[in-house]
Amino acid sequence: MSDTKQQAFAYATYPDLAGKRVVITGGGSGIGGELTTAFAGQGARVVFLDIAEEASRQLEETLSGSAHPPKFLKCDLTDLDELKAVFARIDEELGGVDILLNNAANDDRHEIEDVTPAYWESRINVNLRHMFFCTQAVLPGMKQRGQGAILNFGSISWHIPHTQLHLYMTAKAGIEGMTRALAREVGKYGIRANTVIPGAVRTPRQQALWHNPEEEARILAGQCMPERVEMQDVAALTLFLASNNARHCSGREYFVDAGWYGA
Ligand SMILES: NC(=O)c1ccc[n+]([C@@H]2O[C@H](COP(=O)([O-])OP(=O)(O)OC[C@H]3O[C@@H](n4cnc5c(N)ncnc54)[C@H](O)[C@@H]3O)[C@@H](O)[C@H]2O)c1
Repeated sequence: MSDTKQQAFAYATYPDLAGKRVVITGGGSGIGGELTTAFAGQGARVVFLDIAEEASRQLEETLSGSAHPPKFLKCDLTDLDELKAVFARIDEELGGVDILLNNAANDDRHEIEDVTPAYWESRINVNLRHMFFCTQAVLPGMKQRGQGAILNFGSISWHIPHTQLHLYMTAKAGIEGMTRALAREVGKYGIRANTVIPGAVRTPRQQALWHNPEEEARILAGQCMPERVEMQDVAALTLFLASNNARHCSGREYFVDAGWYGA
């Protein structure tokens, strides 16, 4: 995005998001950090879960002037006992969850021949399993209230040619199936479930670890629009899908990737 477009960017306001209880996994940095910022900006009551303590505390500090300052709870989502305990605490403190953003993930690279059974499990656990169990934790309350929105974060990676991300892509493909299965079961309770699919988003981690001129050229050549997708673009779509403006959007996949289906 050019500097002028970046400066001109402003989120739409969704009045029904004000006061909503929102849980954001991996909400301490990257796209998750922008989600925390954007939902706090709508007046939502955000709790974000993360393992990155320093970044998360910093974000809490930055957003401390919000109408409802977001609250950071440290939680390793691959530890299911910790996950269960943190949602029990959220229920106790907030009285329930209206919107769940299953965003946390880890896109470490690997070669097929190096994958051990333990590594397989660790990748599936960090990229897929917690989404199911966070959902399981919030569903009873959502069903009781007859409303709720769950957004699972997929990835463009398995929709395009990509390498060294075998297990991440496997998990991300699974998320789309899991989300459709969920949407079918919970629609009758007024609960919506969708997958948000980011393209190549400029995050601090992506820029630090994988960015190089060849990769930049590959991305821009593959997209319909030769401009990089920013974290705000993902947050803007997420705000809409979480709001009542999307009241009849469920069981689907929503891409924000500048049309990346080239090589
Ligand atoms: N950045 C991209 O280009 C891109 C592209 C496609 C999809 N996505 C998806 O968007 C989402 C956000 O991506 P991102 O680029 O911001 O990722 P990121 O790696 O920058 O941030 C992920 C966040 O999750 C947290 N996290 C990781 N493991 C955790 C654990 N075990 N317990 C709790 N928290 C944990 C991290 O500390 C971090 O704050 C992910 O689901 C990712 O797969 C990103």
